[in-house]
Amino acid sequence: MCGITGYIGRQDAAPYLLGALKKLEYRGYDSSGLALLHDGELIVRKAKGRISVLEERLMSEQLPFMANIGIAHTRWATHGEPSDLNSHPHTDSEGRIAVVHNGIIENYLDLKKWLQARDVVFASDTDTEVIAHLLNYYYKAREGKFFEAVLDALARLEGSYAIAILCTDYPDRIIAARKDSPLIIGLGEGENFLASDAPAFIQYTREALFLNDGELVVLYNDHVDLFTNTGEKLLRDTTHIEWDAESAEKGGYPHFMLKEIHEQPKALNDTYKKFDEIKLNDWLKGDGSPIERIIITACGTAWHAAMVGKRAFEALARIPVDVEIASEFRYGNPVIKSGDRVIVISQSGETADTLAAMRLAKEKQLPILAITNVLGSTLAREAISNGGSVIYTLAGPEIAVASTKAFTTQLMCLYLLAIKLGVLNKTISDSDYSTYRNELAQIPEKAALLLKQQEVIQKFAALQFNKDKVFFMGRQFDYAVSLEAALKLKEISYTHSESFAAGELKHGPIALVDTRTLVVAIATQRPLFEKLVSNIKEVAARGAATLLITFANKGKTNYDEVADSVFIIPDTIDTFSPMLSIIPAQLFAYYCSIQKGNDPDKPRNLAKSVTVE
Ligand code: G6P
Repeated sequence: MCGITGYIGRQDAAPYLLGALKKLEYRGYDSSGLALLHDGELIVRKAKGRISVLEERLMSEQLPFMANIGIAHTRWATHGEPSDLNSHPHTDSEGRIAVVHNGIIENYLDLKKWLQARDVVFASDTDTEVIAHLLNYYYKAREGKFFEAVLDALARLEGSYAIAILCTDYPDRIIAARKDSPLIIGLGEGENFLASDAPAFIQYTREALFLNDGELVVLYNDHVDLFTNTGEKLLRDTTHIEWDAESAEKGGYPHFMLKEIHEQPKALNDTYKKFDEIKLNDWLKGDGSPIERIIITACGTAWHAAMVGKRAFEALARIPVDVEIASEFRYGNPVIKSGDRVIVISQSGETADTLAAMRLAKEKQLPILAITNVLGSTLAREAISNGGSVIYTLAGPEIAVASTKAFTTQLMCLYLLAIKLGVLNKTISDSDYSTYRNELAQIPEKAALLLKQQEVIQKFAALQFNKDKVFFMGRQFDYAVSLEAALKLKEISYTHSESFAAGELKHGPIALVDTRTLVVAIATQRPLFEKLVSNIKEVAARGAATLLITFANKGKTNYDEVADSVFIIPDTIDTFSPMLSIIPAQLFAYYCSIQKGNDPDKPRNLAKSVTVE
C-alpha cells in the first residue's frame, strides 16, 4: 500500500531512490515520484505508471547536478486516480516543502476545507496534499521552525501515515514520522536511509532503527535523532537485519514469484529447524488455564493458512479452533472464555486489519501468539510488548505480491505447533510425535522433488489458461488448500476462480459448470478419495475439463479414467499434504499469468502489504 523511501548522505540520492523504489514496487505500482533538494530548491519529478517510466523520464532529462538528499514514493492509489498530478511527492504552494506518504489521512476533507478557507489552492485529489499545505501553514505560524511545524501538523492528522518531509530551508535533514504504517531507518556511514521496508536499503546497511507509532525521526547524514510526537527525545537500540541483499534480488529467475516458489524447500527447512528455539511459554501458560479453544485471525493467504491450521489443531491436538478473517474479527464482539488463546498470522506483520484484530485480542486480554515473516514488524513488536509470543517464519523476503513461500512456512509452523500441543494434551503419543516430526523434516525434500515436475504444470497451463472459469474443490485439508489455490489464480491471471468444499458442489456451484470451465480437484485425504472421484465425474458430465492433484495410486483406481489430467505429489501423511499440494496450484497460477502476458509479480489493483483498511 504505497512505499516511501529517503536518502541523506554524500552520494547521489537519485540512483539510490530509484533503486529503492524498485525494491518497494511490490507495495504499489500505479505511479511514482521523487523530490531532490539541491541549492535551496526542490526538484520534483513524478510519473503515472511503473517506476521504469519515472526512470526513463529522469534519464532523458539528465539532471545537471547531484543532490545528496531526497525522498521518493511508489503509489497504490486510495484517494484520486493514478495520474502524474496525484503521484507523490506533494508540495506546498510555495515549493518549500515536499512530502511522501503511505497511509490514509481520514480527516483530510475537514482539513482541506479548513485550508481552503485560508486561500490554499489544491493541485491534486489526494489526501496527502493536505499534509504539505498544513506544514506550510504551521511553518509560517512557527516563524520558520521546521521541527515544531511538523509536530503541530502531525497533531492535526487522523488516520495512518508513514511520511517523509523535505524543506528547502533545512537542506541538512529529512523529517519522518509514523502512525499505523511501517517505517524503518537504515543507519549507514555518513549516510542514512528511510524506507517502508528494509529491502530498500539492505544493500547499503543492515543496521536498522524501527520506529513505533507516534514517533518522529530527524535524519542527518551523520546521525539520526528520535523523538516522541510531542518532541521528547528517545533512545533506541538498533537491530541487525539478517536478510542478505541477494535474497531480495531475482537471482536469475524471470520473476520473484517463480524464485519464491522454488525457495520453498529451503524456507520450509529453515523454518522447521528453528522452531524448537522459539519460546512459547507465555502463550502456552496464558492466564494459567489449559487451552480450551484457539482463535486464529488473519487476512488473504495467511487466512488460508489459518484454515489449514484449524484442521491441524483439531486433528492432532483435539483443540477446537475458530478462524476469523481479521477485518471481521476486528469489528465483532467475540465471546471470550478463560482458556482461549489467539494466533495472529501475517507475512508482513503490517496488515492494518490484522493489527486491529490483534489489538482487539489484547483488549480482551487474550494471550497472543503472532506468526510473521518480518523481524521487527509492528505485529511482532506489539505482540511481545503485550506479553505475547512470536514465531518467525524463515521464508526470507517475499517480494512477489502473490504469497507462496510465506504460506507454506506458515503451515510448517502451525503443524509443528499442533503436534507440540498434541503431546501436551496427550492426544498424540511420544512415538507418534517422533513419526510426525520425521515426516515434517522430510517435507522440504519432497517439495524439492515436486518442483522438478514444474514442466508438467507449465504445459498444462499452456493448454488451459484461457478457460473462462476455474474451480478448485476438495474436502477437509484439501478444501482449505483449494481456497488458496483459487486465490493464487485470480490474483495473477485474472481468471474467475473460486473454491468449493467438494460436497457443496451439488448445492449451487455445479450450475456454473460448462464446457468453458476447468475444475481442479485436490484429493489427498485418502479416506475421502472416492467422494472426490464422484465429484469429478459430476463436473465432467457437464463438460468441464478436469485436473486431479493427488498422491501416487497404490493400484486400485486407474487415474486416467478419473480425470483428464493428473498431477502426482510426493507421498506424505494426509494431514501434512497442504504443504505439497499447494505447490502445483502456485505453479499453475504463475504459468497462466505468463501465458496471458501479465506481470505475475505485480498484479493489477493489488498490493503486497495492505496497511490501510
Ligand atoms: C495482501 C497480499 C496477500 C496477503 C494479504 C495478507 O492482500 O496481496 O498476498 O496474503 O495481504 O498479508 P499479510 O502480510 O498480513 O500476510
